[in-house]
Amino acid sequence: MTQEKGYLSTDNKRKVTTHRLLEMKQRGEKITMLTAYDYSMAAAIDQAGMDVILVGDSASNVMAGNTTTLPMTVDQMIYHGKSVMNGVKRAMVVIDMPFGSYQGNPYEAVSNAVRIMKETQADCVKLEGGKEILESIHAILSAGIPIMGHLGLMPQSINKYGTYAVRAQEEEEANKLLDDAHLLQEAGCCSMVLEKIPAGLAKKVAEELTVPVIGIGAGPDVDGQVLVMHDMLGLNKGFSPRFLRRYANLFDEIQSAVQQYITDVKSSDFPSADESY
Ligand code: KIV
Repeated sequence: MTQEKGYLSTDNKRKVTTHRLLEMKQRGEKITMLTAYDYSMAAAIDQAGMDVILVGDSASNVMAGNTTTLPMTVDQMIYHGKSVMNGVKRAMVVIDMPFGSYQGNPYEAVSNAVRIMKETQADCVKLEGGKEILESIHAILSAGIPIMGHLGLMPQSINKYGTYAVRAQEEEEANKLLDDAHLLQEAGCCSMVLEKIPAGLAKKVAEELTVPVIGIGAGPDVDGQVLVMHDMLGLNKGFSPRFLRRYANLFDEIQSAVQQYITDVKSSDFPSADESY
């Protein structure tokens, strides 16, 4: 077998599906997941061998510069989703349903989910919440659309919390999270994200559930990890929570490349004769 660059081998180029994620959990293979919002970065991430690409509503923060995820619209998620899908061949692509598009009204929820799936051709949608959004979850699943749940710190509820601190540290909230995780699995969700909760609680959820549990700030004992691409590549210098590991310092690298370009243009070094027609 020829080993190619990165984790992928030649026989591992099959499209990642909800079923393959389940198989990965069953054989103890960790699932890798990273956000992307555009064609070029999605292509690079996919070709590096990522299992899941999340078109996160964190686009609101890292692409648009908003302070919360709340302003994102269904149209904007579809725009980002289509761009990502144009760059992806192998990874499973999950699209966040934005704030206000699924809470409260299951009919609106299913019609927004259908729009997202039809117009982007992505593989799955992700929704934040447990018992409170169960009717919407049932409606979306009944249309044949896979759902990734999201529990723990749910950024769309930031105005309710008033803080981005670790969630479910108290027994009552931890018990509710565990109940919600079981409800999501019983309803038919294919997987779920746990954000910023104690590692021990995340371990318990991953052990009790048969569907894959993917953590962000949820410790090592879950079935996979997800990070926001801009954070792990060092494009977002002001954000450095404890759970974040930085793999590059792209902000600095971009700045020095751009400064070199400015110097070259100002000094008439660029373009050279070789770079002219
Ligand atoms: O929107 C997002 O990027 C997310 C991740 C933090 C899981 O939901």
